[in-house]
Amino acid sequence: MSGHAPIAVALDAPDLETAARWAGLVTPHVSTLKIGLELYLRYGPEVVASVRGASGVQIFLDLKLHDIPATVAAASRAVARLRPAFLTVHAAAGTAAIRAAADAAPGARVVAVTVLTSLGEADLERIGMGGPLSDAVRRLAVLAVGAGARGLVCSPREVAVVRAEVGPDVTLITPGIRPAGADAHDQARTATPEEALRAGADLLVIGRPITSAPDPGAAAAAIAASLRHLTPAQG
Ligand code: C5P
Repeated sequence: MSGHAPIAVALDAPDLETAARWAGLVTPHVSTLKIGLELYLRYGPEVVASVRGASGVQIFLDLKLHDIPATVAAASRAVARLRPAFLTVHAAAGTAAIRAAADAAPGARVVAVTVLTSLGEADLERIGMGGPLSDAVRRLAVLAVGAGARGLVCSPREVAVVRAEVGPDVTLITPGIRPAGADAHDQARTATPEEALRAGADLLVIGRPITSAPDPGAAAAAIAASLRHLTPAQG
């Protein structure tokens, strides 16, 4: 979106008023707002209108759908009317479920979650997905894109390998972003916004470095300014 940095601000707010306030402060500077499970389950579809306001900001519905294809299709259809730009589905739900989401929400970019970054190789072993984590990420990325996903969530460290696997047309979305010197909070493997974009990410998910700042609008503006030389499409 021209004039706005390729950032999805994670609105992980305790209540709707706070989410709407953050949204108002950051939308002049960023392309996208990310609504997660907590906010959506507490307030329902209304949350989308509350944070979108009158702006043209893109909505990223991070609902991480994972169910049988018919249920994923029905759920995707139910949220498609909210006109999200992005909707997440777990790649492990399988080809038919991803295809069902893509067909049911044609106006949204279905984004597949490969392996949650909270899982390590020992966890994967326990759920019957033993082997190198990067193999699982690559396998699920290829499966998801083959099934119609047009975006993938991956850690900044996986971007290059995933990009090599899926080509240039898939939107790669990376959380775990921290500006140099910022608090890592609970994120173990972080990259700066510049590093992630240089590695090939298209959209950076950033939460607390913006929303916990004394002035979230100024924090978003500063990160957006730091990226301007890397994103020529910005106005
Ligand atoms: O505050 P912070 O920048 O760490 O927020 C990151 C956001 O990205 C949160 O909404 C978190 O749930 C989400 N996320 C993540 N790691 C993933 C997938 C999503 O941190 N692998």
